Amino acid sequence: MDILGIETSCDETAAAIVRDGREVVSNVVYTQIPLHRPYGGVVPEIASRAHVEKIGEVVREAVSGPVDAVAVTYGPGLSPALLVGLNAAKGLARALGVPLFGINHIEAHLHTPFLFDSGDGEAARVPFPEDAVPALGLAISGGHTAWIDMPAYGVYSIIGQTLDDAAGEAFDKAAKLLGLGYPGGPVVDKIAREYLAGSGSSGLVPFPKGRPREGVSALAGLPAELCVSFSGLKTALLRHVQREGGAEAIAAAGETPRLVASYQEAIVQSVAERTRTALRRSRYRSLVVGGGVSLNSRLRTVLAEVADEAGVRLLMAKPRYCGDNGAMIAGLAFFRRETAPNAAALDVCPGLEVGK
Ligand code: KG4
Ligand code: ZN
Repeated sequence: MDILGIETSCDETAAAIVRDGREVVSNVVYTQIPLHRPYGGVVPEIASRAHVEKIGEVVREAVSGPVDAVAVTYGPGLSPALLVGLNAAKGLARALGVPLFGINHIEAHLHTPFLFDSGDGEAARVPFPEDAVPALGLAISGGHTAWIDMPAYGVYSIIGQTLDDAAGEAFDKAAKLLGLGYPGGPVVDKIAREYLAGSGSSGLVPFPKGRPREGVSALAGLPAELCVSFSGLKTALLRHVQREGGAEAIAAAGETPRLVASYQEAIVQSVAERTRTALRRSRYRSLVVGGGVSLNSRLRTVLAEVADEAGVRLLMAKPRYCGDNGAMIAGLAFFRRETAPNAAALDVCPGLEVGK
C-alpha cells in the first residue's frame, strides 16, 4: 500500500510516498529556514504563504505512481500552515478517489526510527513497530519535549513533558542570545562538540538541570520527576551573559564555546535523567526517539548510554528523518489506517494532544 504523506505544520513543506508504513519510496522536503532566519524564528504568515507556493511542486516531485491513500498532519502546529497541507490533501484524496487519514505530528516523529529507504538493502536492520513495543517514546523537537508511554503500537499517553520551552526552543533562544544565528540547535551542537573534544567536560559552567518542583500546578497531574522546565536554564544563561558584559565580550574572551557546551550539557543531562527515570518505572523493550533535537550528537551519545544501562534497545531515526518530513506522516498512517480520523470532514487542530 503506497501512502502519500503531506506535512506543513511548521516551516517545512514536505511530501513523501511510503510503502506499507516503512519503505520510503520518495521523500521531498522544502525547508523555509532561510525565509525565517532574518526574524530569528518562524513567522506564521510567511510560513503559510511559502507552503502555498511550494506544496504543488513538492507533491508532484514526490509522486511517481499510483497512490492508495493520502495522509496529512492536522495538528499540532501553526494553524495557517496546517491549513495549507490539509486543504491540499483533501483536494488530492477527492481527485484520486482514495481515503484521507489525519495524523498527529508528534506521534509521527516517533515513527521515524521504523523508516528505511527503498532499495538501500537496510530493511532487515530496521525493526517492525510491533516488535518495538512496549516502548518509551521521547519526542524532542522545536515545539515539543515529551516522554510518551507506548504500550502497543499506535497507543500513546504522555507521562512527562516540558512545562515551558521545548528543548529545541531552548537551543534556539540561547543561540539568539549569543548571536549565533537561527536555528540554534545545529550551531550549538557543532560548537559544543568541538569544545568537548578539545577540553572535555570538567570545566563546564554548572547550569540548572530544569527539575520542576513537586506539586506546581503546571505539572497538570504529571510526576515532577518526569517533567522538565527550561525557563530557569534560559534565565541562568541570560544572567551569566549580563554578568560577563554581554555576548560580544564573551565572544571576544573566547568563552562562547565553553558556555555553549555547558548549556547544551544541562539540556542533555536533564533529558537523560528523566529518560532514565521513565525507563525504570515500567518494563520497556525499546526507547524510541524522534524530532529535530534528536540530531544532537551529544544527546545521541548520552541516550545510547542510558538505553544500554536500562537494557532497552535505542531506536533513533537516521538524520534525514529527524526533522519534519512527509515520510513519518505516511508511514504512521499505514499502521493507524483503522483508527486515524478519516480526514474528509477533518479540521486543523493546532493544539492536538498526543493519544487523542
Ligand atoms: O522536529 P523539528 O524539525 O521541528 C519541530 O517539529 O519543531 O525540530 C526543529 C528543532 C529546532 O529547534 C532546532 O534548533 C533543533 O530541532 N535542532 C537541533 C539540532 N538540529 C536541529 N537541536 C540540537 N542539536 C541539533 N543538532
Ligand atoms: Zn516536528
